Amino acid sequence: MPQTDQKSTQLNGKPAGTAQLILNGQTVDLPIIVGTEDEKAIDITQLRAKTEYITLDQGYGNTGSCTSAITFIDGERGILRYRGIPIEELAEEATFMETAFLLIYGYLPTRTELEAFQQRVSDRALLHEDMKHFFNGYPSNAHPMAILSAMTCSLSTYEPDLATSNPNPNEIDTILADLLAKAATIAAFSYKKSAGQPYVYPKSSLSYIPNFLSMMFDSPTKPYFLDPDIIRAVEALFVLHADHEQNCSTSTVRLVGSSRANLFAAISAGICALWGPLHGGANQEVLEMLEAIQQDGGNVKKYVAMAKDKTSNFRLMGFGHRVYKSYDPRAKVIKKLCDKVLAKIGKNDPLLDIARTLEETALKDPFFVERKLYPNIDFYSGIIYRAIGIPTNMFTVMFALGRVPGWIAHWKEMIETPGTKIGRPRQVYTGLKQQKYVPIHLRG
Ligand code: SDX
Repeated sequence: MPQTDQKSTQLNGKPAGTAQLILNGQTVDLPIIVGTEDEKAIDITQLRAKTEYITLDQGYGNTGSCTSAITFIDGERGILRYRGIPIEELAEEATFMETAFLLIYGYLPTRTELEAFQQRVSDRALLHEDMKHFFNGYPSNAHPMAILSAMTCSLSTYEPDLATSNPNPNEIDTILADLLAKAATIAAFSYKKSAGQPYVYPKSSLSYIPNFLSMMFDSPTKPYFLDPDIIRAVEALFVLHADHEQNCSTSTVRLVGSSRANLFAAISAGICALWGPLHGGANQEVLEMLEAIQQDGGNVKKYVAMAKDKTSNFRLMGFGHRVYKSYDPRAKVIKKLCDKVLAKIGKNDPLLDIARTLEETALKDPFFVERKLYPNIDFYSGIIYRAIGIPTNMFTVMFALGRVPGWIAHWKEMIETPGTKIGRPRQVYTGLKQQKYVPIHLRG
């Protein structure tokens, strides 16, 4: 089994002096820590004990929940690195399983290690046959994200020995391989069920992406050709989605995992968080927005104007980011990938032209420039998914499958960090002061 690379595991940050807080005449020293890339933080772990004050930060835009050695993002410079390696190099060269290994164990595997890891995942892709009955319980138009989150949590009922709250290292390797593999099978089976097609079972002889594409598109009457260029494009897309430090869904996985709920439950919660249209659900919303613009005669200017009008409740989906205040480096790679995949398939997609015009128009408009709103990972990814035959309602499932290694890596880092406590934020109460109970007969 792989040994997590100690030099790349979590460091607690370097002490770098103190910050002074002057409160009601009291001066409180708070330690400052600095990360590997010079990110600085004021450690307020002792703030309430020393001052009876807490901090308040709606949306956590200024609050770090942990230190982590997995992924580094520089939002101003548009930098994204997994374990120090730039995303552009990984998207160009690495496979999804190689990237999953890197994120989870902290180093690039040798060929032998990668082959063993891939085989461990492929060998665990088969669901318990009884789980097929779950799919019959859902309406045919059930959203596949609902199915994915419910069945991911239900995996723990078929693998109770893996659904442990305190796994030992060897168990962790098996649990994470099981989850990585079965999430793809659940996703593919939910698609086949919705399409009224027979399930295509996973094959141990295929590695993750070819196995997934085969389960999605193979059929007894029309064998699916595993095109190396399409496989490479999906590998790159999944690499680009694999992790993104403390985003909403990863923070959810960490919070649920901090209560020692098992990994299946924590990942199921992450899938639900990702589903939101402000997060991973945006890739489906982008496609629906582009289709609406197309049906509206391609009137891009009208939709840009709506996005600027606060009363419209309309946002340019796939635009803007909490951290990136420059172009999302992943969107740059995906935009180039669009041309390659469409050229390979010999398709021209009018939605890509609309997306490009929308981007050009927005990036010239002071409203977007002043707010540093650029295309994010979700803006172009749906164009590729659509070109290879993924239905729109499966786009967020594709995001989720890509993100599973990142969620696992953060869960593993958290449970392996000595002294990790259950996550339990505080609040500032603004409700009624003490009231008397009024019995029902006096309440009219
Ligand atoms: C992902 O965190 C991650 O890392 C996430 C992710 C990952 O890999 O895990 O990168 C994946 O979730 C990408 C984001 C996908 N979501 C969308 O594309 C939905 C559309 N974008 C947004 O709603 C928004 O930009 C967010 C949610 C992404 C970020 O929101 P913030 O940081 O809370 O910013 P905000 O809502 O406070 O907006 C700041 C200003 C506001 O205007 P003012 O009040 O200052 O006048 O920018 C405006 C907003 O109205 N704005 C937009 C906009 N996004 C922000 N206006 C129009 N269209 C938009 N898309």
